[in-house]
Amino acid sequence: MQVISIANQKGGCAKTATSVCLATALAKHDKRVLLVDLDQQAHSTIWLLTEEAAEATGIYQVLTGKTPILSEVKKSPSLVDVLPANAELAGLELGGWTKIGARKLSRSLAEIKDLYDLVIIDCPPNLGLAVYNALVASDQVIAPIDCGPESYESISRLKMTLQHITSEYNCAPELIPLLTFVERTKIAQMITETTKSEFSKVLPSVRKNTAIPEAFAARMPIYQYDPNSGAAKDYTLVAENIIKWHEKN
Ligand SMILES: Nc1ncnc2c1ncn2[C@@H]1O[C@H](COP(=O)(O)OP(=O)(O)O)[C@@H](O)[C@H]1O
Ligand SMILES: [Mg+2]
Repeated sequence: MQVISIANQKGGCAKTATSVCLATALAKHDKRVLLVDLDQQAHSTIWLLTEEAAEATGIYQVLTGKTPILSEVKKSPSLVDVLPANAELAGLELGGWTKIGARKLSRSLAEIKDLYDLVIIDCPPNLGLAVYNALVASDQVIAPIDCGPESYESISRLKMTLQHITSEYNCAPELIPLLTFVERTKIAQMITETTKSEFSKVLPSVRKNTAIPEAFAARMPIYQYDPNSGAAKDYTLVAENIIKWHEKN
């Protein structure tokens, strides 16, 4: 089982879109996929399950040790299993560090390691306790970089956090950038070039495409809403790259 976090503390850079589109693309390639929604906004949960699922129990109960992980996993029509986020997550950071620590998610995922090929974790836009749990549990961290001028600062902070985690928790998640919202603009071209020169591994970019917000609004996976859209094609390429890397390891 490979664990991949989709993380960047910047909001709106396509963490949720990447989590959901990548998870469904991997499932289409016959991979057994679990999507863990760690964001209290619960957009991944709402996209693949229902609004009600985001109000029931979920990841909070797992992180606080109230229920075993498998009993909180829900089947979704998209073939991806989902561990829902719930509003109680908001209270997690308050005093959670001492009670829960950063290894709880990693330990819970170890219980189900034979049931899934890939776990995708949709992270909230911060570097708090839930995100530490995600990063410590991960083999790889995909950082969506929207092609805007501020996106680089947040990647530097994520890099520093990963260095800290590597020394503190004896794990070594690999940071891989994914350019999102790519358009034919000068800034997008500049950010693409800088990213490619700075990282040895870069995933194929995802273009800006209205099919993504439309698919979310319709509560449908992109492959059902518009399988011929640019975004559907781009995320298929991203998934194929990930499968290739994992087959090599
Ligand atoms: N490639 C894309 N093209 C156009 N809109 C996108 C794209 N990716 C995401 N979006 C939209 O941008 C907004 C922010 O994306 P989201 O995935 O929610 O970001 P995050 O989870 O990082 O906050 C959402 O409305 C989403 O539908
Ligand atoms: Mg999100």
